[in-house]
Amino acid sequence: MAGLAKTALVTGAAAGIGAACARRLARDGARIGVLDLDAERCAATVGEITAAGGQAIALGADISDRTQVEAAIARLREAFGPVGVLVNNAAITGFTPFLEMTDAQWESVLKVNLTGTFIVTQVALPDMVAAGWGRIINIASSAAQTGAKHMAHYAASKGGMISLTRTLAVEFGPAGITANVIPPRFITGTIMSEQSFADQKQPMGREALAQSGPICREGRPDDIAGAVAWLASEDAGYVTGQVIGVNGGRYI
Ligand SMILES: NC(=O)c1ccc[n+]([C@@H]2O[C@H](COP(=O)([O-])OP(=O)(O)OC[C@H]3O[C@@H](n4cnc5c(N)ncnc54)[C@H](O)[C@@H]3O)[C@@H](O)[C@H]2O)c1
Repeated sequence: MAGLAKTALVTGAAAGIGAACARRLARDGARIGVLDLDAERCAATVGEITAAGGQAIALGADISDRTQVEAAIARLREAFGPVGVLVNNAAITGFTPFLEMTDAQWESVLKVNLTGTFIVTQVALPDMVAAGWGRIINIASSAAQTGAKHMAHYAASKGGMISLTRTLAVEFGPAGITANVIPPRFITGTIMSEQSFADQKQPMGREALAQSGPICREGRPDDIAGAVAWLASEDAGYVTGQVIGVNGGRYI
């Protein structure tokens, strides 16, 4: 195992990109808190990690509920010690034309994607400040960079995550903590992406999108996990406040 001897909390780690990040950070030596709304699939991710010789704990919680987040992070600290690496990955999406979007739709997406990221970060960060070392890696979306039709709430929430990341970088750099953001694009094999193909919410078909390049293939959760692993490592210690596109060159 490589040398990431830290406790890492990954939100939305029951599936897709989050599960891939959890498996990869465990492979790199971290002890993982697998946090997700879906407690049953959290246990599956934990099973995969432990079967491969890693250490992980399932933390069923809603990131937008401060009481649940505090309880989950308290359990993680008890099991594996203070949080050193935080991957804010959990999110929801939706597709509604802007003029039809209700306050409830807007608020539900902002509440999970942006307020949830704020809550988890605020609860976990004191551990990093106390240690004088930390890594915050936020998973946004290229929707924040390009705009995304019928996804005003989602794109706005992800743009907020980018600004939040930059602010964390500025505020906590002197404390030894880096904060960076990855806005993915076209990562298949996740619940969110497969659902959007099934519902025909992607304007281009899957194969046409893959061939649209510049890198002519679908992205996979491990493509994001590789970038997350690097940002969590000592090698990325001089990198903060950056937007690292892992998108096959689809936004340059
Ligand atoms: N797949 C893509 O192409 C793509 C593109 C751009 C951005 N992203 C971003 O990558 C991240 C992961 O996406 P994915 O495609 O793996 O999605 P996914 O739906 O497969 O996984 C998201 C996970 O988050 C969990 N979750 C949702 N709400 C939660 C809450 N309130 N509390 C705790 N957990 C919650 C879900 O249960 C799920 O397990 C998201 O932030 C998403 O916006 C994905």
